[in-house]
Amino acid sequence: MTDPVPALQAHRLSAAYHQQPVLEEITLSLPQGQWTAIVGPNGAGKSSLLNLVIGSLAPLRGDLRILGQSPAAQRRAGNIAYMAQQEHMEWDFPISVRDTVLTGRYGLMRHDPLWQRLVPRRWANPSHRQAVEAALEAVDMADYAARPIGELSGGQKKRVMLARALAQQARILLLDEPLAGVDPPSEKLILATLERERRAGRTIIMVTHDMPSARVHADNVLLINRTLVGMGAPDEMLSDAMLARLAVGAPEPARGGARVAA
Ligand SMILES: Nc1ncnc2c1ncn2[C@@H]1O[C@H](COP(=O)(O)OP(=O)(O)O)[C@@H](O)[C@H]1O
Ligand SMILES: [Mg+2]
Repeated sequence: MTDPVPALQAHRLSAAYHQQPVLEEITLSLPQGQWTAIVGPNGAGKSSLLNLVIGSLAPLRGDLRILGQSPAAQRRAGNIAYMAQQEHMEWDFPISVRDTVLTGRYGLMRHDPLWQRLVPRRWANPSHRQAVEAALEAVDMADYAARPIGELSGGQKKRVMLARALAQQARILLLDEPLAGVDPPSEKLILATLERERRAGRTIIMVTHDMPSARVHADNVLLINRTLVGMGAPDEMLSDAMLARLAVGAPEPARGGARVAA
């Protein structure tokens, strides 16, 4: 039997913002169905890596395949769900919890037949409604469905944004710091939800600073500091020696390549 296509495959992937390198020469492959934790200091390029995976940042060089295709194609096909780092969001928006989660389905609605797209969105295809309700149940937020999102606590908002990602029923879940700033009960609930998703066969890629939970839950850890510092089992990657190497930054590349503005 041939191996299934990797969830993510990067070959000498580099990215930059306005000529300023942010990620360099990343080569890695992640199998489907695993939970990967991405760990690295602030400014290491972790969020940028997720932006490459969803296709909102274009590689400067190198190649990135998601389930064997381009990020943009997989995003359009609904195979990638993404939960952004929360500090980049605005909350004083008069939108309910339920409608927030429903926005996760907008990409999939493009595939509905035309007549369903012409009636008001929320009444159209019942599968959208069902996915939203199931996702709210999964994160234990169904009782808050009618509340404005801005009224919730930090941990509750994270749960709703996780529900928004779950509602997409995508094969790959990308989560940028889903545990940052959440209360312990929310953290437990988020981790249990992700465990269930992994058991259902989904691929989970999560940026985190939470080492204890990465040790317990992740199959793989990627250490990122502008480049790939290490990749492997949590026990090995989260050892004191590896974390010390991560703090120092990238190992010297074997040859050429690394260009940093003076
Ligand atoms: N949209 C952007 N434009 C310019 N620079 C950016 C942008 N986004 C991130 N950066 C810079 O890229 C570097 C990596 O950022 P980021 O990927 O957010 O790191 P991390 O998520 O690991 O903290 C930082 O120096 C940051 O300032
Ligand atoms: Mg970040």
